[in-house]
Amino acid sequence: MKNTFLSCAVAALCLCAAACSENKTGLSGDPSAAIIPLPQAIKTDNSAFELTQRTAIGCDRQNEALAGIARYLNEKIAPATGFTLPVKEKGAIRLELSEDASLGTEGYRLKVSPSEVVITGAAPAGVFYGVQTFLQLLPPEIKSSARQSGTRWMAPAVDITDAPRFPWRGMMLDVSRHWFTKDEVKRLIDEMAEYKLNVFHWHLTDDQGWRLEIPSLPRLTEVGAWRAPRVGQWWQREPQQPGEEATYGGFYTAADVEEVLDYAAARFVRVIPEIDVPGHSVAALVAYPELACMKAPRAVGVGNKFYGDDENTLCVGKESTFEFMDKVLSQVAVLFPDEYVHIGGDECYKGFWHECPRCRARMKAEGLKDEKELQSYFIHRMEALLKSKGKKLIGWDEILEGGLAPDATVMSWRGMEGGIQAAQAGHHVIMTPSEHCYLDLWQGEPSVEPDTYSMCRLSDSYRFNPVPAGVPAEMILGGQGNIWAESVPTFRHAEYMAWPRGWALAEVLWSGPDKCEWTDFYPRVERHFVRADYAGVNYARSMYNAVITPEWKADCSLSVTLGCELPGTDIYYTFDNTDPDPFTPKYESPLRVPKNATWLRVVTYRNGKPAGKVITLRISELEKRAGDKVRKVGNL
Ligand code: ACM
Ligand code: ZN
Repeated sequence: MKNTFLSCAVAALCLCAAACSENKTGLSGDPSAAIIPLPQAIKTDNSAFELTQRTAIGCDRQNEALAGIARYLNEKIAPATGFTLPVKEKGAIRLELSEDASLGTEGYRLKVSPSEVVITGAAPAGVFYGVQTFLQLLPPEIKSSARQSGTRWMAPAVDITDAPRFPWRGMMLDVSRHWFTKDEVKRLIDEMAEYKLNVFHWHLTDDQGWRLEIPSLPRLTEVGAWRAPRVGQWWQREPQQPGEEATYGGFYTAADVEEVLDYAAARFVRVIPEIDVPGHSVAALVAYPELACMKAPRAVGVGNKFYGDDENTLCVGKESTFEFMDKVLSQVAVLFPDEYVHIGGDECYKGFWHECPRCRARMKAEGLKDEKELQSYFIHRMEALLKSKGKKLIGWDEILEGGLAPDATVMSWRGMEGGIQAAQAGHHVIMTPSEHCYLDLWQGEPSVEPDTYSMCRLSDSYRFNPVPAGVPAEMILGGQGNIWAESVPTFRHAEYMAWPRGWALAEVLWSGPDKCEWTDFYPRVERHFVRADYAGVNYARSMYNAVITPEWKADCSLSVTLGCELPGTDIYYTFDNTDPDPFTPKYESPLRVPKNATWLRVVTYRNGKPAGKVITLRISELEKRAGDKVRKVGNL
């Protein structure tokens, strides 16, 4: 076997020669070139295993977890291969538990040879991840839901030893701003598990919808789960009008949640519910107006400008707010088995508390000097409530303000600062800084992306390092990607936002940032695009688009730099209002905008083929993006 270290350039192993007389075998190079996230150590040789309908899965069938993994493997291969493998005590695909504690609870060993596939874990999760790696070694056609009759199911011989760098490898879906069905949630969990992501953070409540049925508080979902139907820009929507019906929305019953939890457990994915309080609570206040400080809004939000107009905070002065939260968290604690409950705590506008006589009385009685301390008081009480139900609290980094609750875990989103501060104070931290982890943001040139408000490219996600210098590494549990859904109206679009950035985060969090090599990663992304195409999974090809950076020069002229996230990309442009192609000028160095030009048009090519979208930008837009000319170059 040949040692292939992770970030080394793809060795051109000619695996095909013996094994494949045809090319639909997946054996077209270094096996590590097929795997995301990259394994910690991989040895290869030029032989292969062939999966046929005569192959059996061997495992201890009395072991429910192993039997479940065998079922999962069969579910994954049956549609494309047309066969379901028998599960026996002995078989050529062996799923085994070992005493090897060095593998940890999620590590595995995968040995593929011409005669067998042996997947060993110290715990079932490890075996499951070994199965994921094995599936990625099979040809991409394996992802098809239709029978692929011309394909030979070859997997290259490998000896892989692998384990994750971080235990928390998450993805959050906001199901409040737009509604996603339980089947869509399950589909996302399935797609996550294929990339060894293991935490699904379910953002269940917000201003635009309460999505979890709480039987003792029926109006939360009878009223709070429904808003007026709207499309168009999130930040510009007309509020629900008097007499208008709230027909858009939905919610999950206890049975729905149990179904999702079972599905996630079969994929070794933990599910963390988030009840976002004390801010972000319009839906709760519309359902139970008595929880407001002064005046609850009339209707669930349809979008928003930012806060301060309608009340969206629970009144912390009223004891009934804590009775309400007790009821909510009792049901949450009963339904969700994970030790953590996320309590939100973010972006709590405190202006209403400032005006509210009850909140002011609470502050006086508790000796709280400002509204930040009032928020901290609320979070401390949430922590005590959760503790009484056997749960631990997670909150967004705003829970640091006014003093952190003693055992709180912090999810750092406004950069890493909050996480650093919390880790240094001895708290566990999950890093999810928006600049690397916010999957609701543009992933390339905004004029050719669906509407949103800021930038997080694939390479930004891939550059994520959850452990900044000077932070006790053991306090950082890991990180996660967040799919906020203000501008994500459909599940297909949620996939577009999730992938491939979620793959980048999966690699950072599993393989570790020190193993991440961009030039090694993006070719694997391209291979996974093929797999996603077979699977019917949507993804963004934004990494192929040109990156356009305008800048004012000292002589007051506008200079435009063109680039691409992928090295080796050719960029063509025009200023004459015609479409660019390889017969128009090729970008070599920063451009000066010709006098009277109205538009810049740009397109990328790779290996002589069109790669990205044609981007058309008005020169006035470039000038705007370059910023304030006077400030940048002085008043010449
Ligand atoms: C957040 O993005 N408000 C956590
Ligand atoms: Zn109040």
